[in-house]
Amino acid sequence: MRLFFALWPPEEVRKRLARWSLELRAVCGGRPTRVENLHLTVAFLGSVADMAEVQRAAKEVAPRRVTLLLDHAGFWRHNRILWAGTSLVPDGIEQLARDLREALARHGIGFDSKPFATHVTLLRDAQEPRSMPALEPIPWEVDGFVLVRSQPRAGGSGYEPLAAWSAAP
Ligand code: 2AM
Repeated sequence: MRLFFALWPPEEVRKRLARWSLELRAVCGGRPTRVENLHLTVAFLGSVADMAEVQRAAKEVAPRRVTLLLDHAGFWRHNRILWAGTSLVPDGIEQLARDLREALARHGIGFDSKPFATHVTLLRDAQEPRSMPALEPIPWEVDGFVLVRSQPRAGGSGYEPLAAWSAAP
């Protein structure tokens, strides 16, 4: 099982991100992430044998309410990903990523230790844009995190949410 923890945007945010993808694709090409798959990865675990231990680790992490303002797009040359991000990463998001990664480490669960980069992948195999189009900022009220299974499928990965942890109302 390939697993990862992510923030999963509500439908309205995903629809608005899909509109960004179309606007960006017009300037840099690439393959858009399907609207139902748009997400922000917090920790990538890869293959996991002991699902119960992962759930125990996640239970120790307090889900947070945080407003994330997606207000700019960026491009990574090394993997040709065009992504949506935020010019100001709220403390609550950094803290959530830290809490989750610390809990995984305490429970002996391996994860990719590359530093957390707040990004939602919008386009793969994109060309570097000469300039980014003006994009309407998207506010996203984050209220928890999810554990997701990634499965290879014809035409791209399929993502299946396995469990969710939400902040109290
Ligand atoms: P990406 O969109 O930047 O490629 C499911 O594959 C999710 O996990 C995607 O958000 C993907 O990020 C991320 N992911 C895949 N492999 C990863 C790795 N080795 N380290 C960190 N994140 C990874």
